[in-house]
Amino acid sequence: MTTAIVGTGGIGSAIARLLASGGETLRLSSADKDSARKLAADVGHAAVVAADNRDALRGAGAVVLALRFTALKSVIDEIADGLTDKLVVVPSNPVTADAQGNVSRVLPEGQSSGEVVAGWLPAGTRLAMAFGTMSADLLQSSADRSPESAVLFYATDDDHAGQQVERLIRTAGFEPVKIGGVEQSSRLEVGGDLHNLVVGPEQARSLIGRA
Ligand SMILES: NC(=O)c1ccc[n+]([C@@H]2O[C@H](COP(=O)([O-])OP(=O)(O)OC[C@H]3O[C@@H](n4cnc5c(N)ncnc54)[C@H](OP(=O)(O)O)[C@@H]3O)[C@@H](O)[C@H]2O)c1
Repeated sequence: MTTAIVGTGGIGSAIARLLASGGETLRLSSADKDSARKLAADVGHAAVVAADNRDALRGAGAVVLALRFTALKSVIDEIADGLTDKLVVVPSNPVTADAQGNVSRVLPEGQSSGEVVAGWLPAGTRLAMAFGTMSADLLQSSADRSPESAVLFYATDDDHAGQQVERLIRTAGFEPVKIGGVEQSSRLEVGGDLHNLVVGPEQARSLIGRA
């Protein structure tokens, strides 16, 4: 199956490599065309570079918006009419960093990224907040863990989106575990209690119930 990845920086590249290893075909686009081309060359025949963000969606059943939170709304507006029949996966954390590397939240405390992104998407879009729950390095090193797969948590309001994102999570070499609806996504974000954890399914389920 084919997934579009818009944004080929740190997390977009890691997700692309894992999905391609699991057999997914990819269409890549990025503001930085060189990074998309380099990634496609690394990934091999499984990935093609699209002409632009809209072109990336052609023939894809899902799109991963691997963008900084502050870039998400303008890209969603740009490609909105291509999103309605697709799964939209958002790994973005609502944070920004200054020149010294100090990280701060761009949303008010108590407001989750999932709620905000859901409000930006066209009606009928299937949203899952996923793949942004651990650093790119940890994501790559935790894939295909044996004997027990590591969990990737996700949040969605939509059962069909849940089935689709579970397939992508398994393709990437993880066991999917749903934490709840998109309003719960702050638990997955930087600073959330489920962020940057590498756990198996049993521990994951007990952690979900703890909040
Ligand atoms: N990196 C991680 O370890 C990690 C882990 C979990 C979650 N996240 C979250 O994932 C999000 C992305 O993080 P990142 O580290 O991958 O950031 P990044 O390295 O800056 O990558 C973002 C990518 O998006 C591209 N981009 C920007 N505007 C675009 C547009 N209009 N159309 C298409 N592509 C565009 C950028 O291209 P240019 O460079 O040319 O601007 C860049 O390739 C953030 O919200 C972050 O919190 C990151």
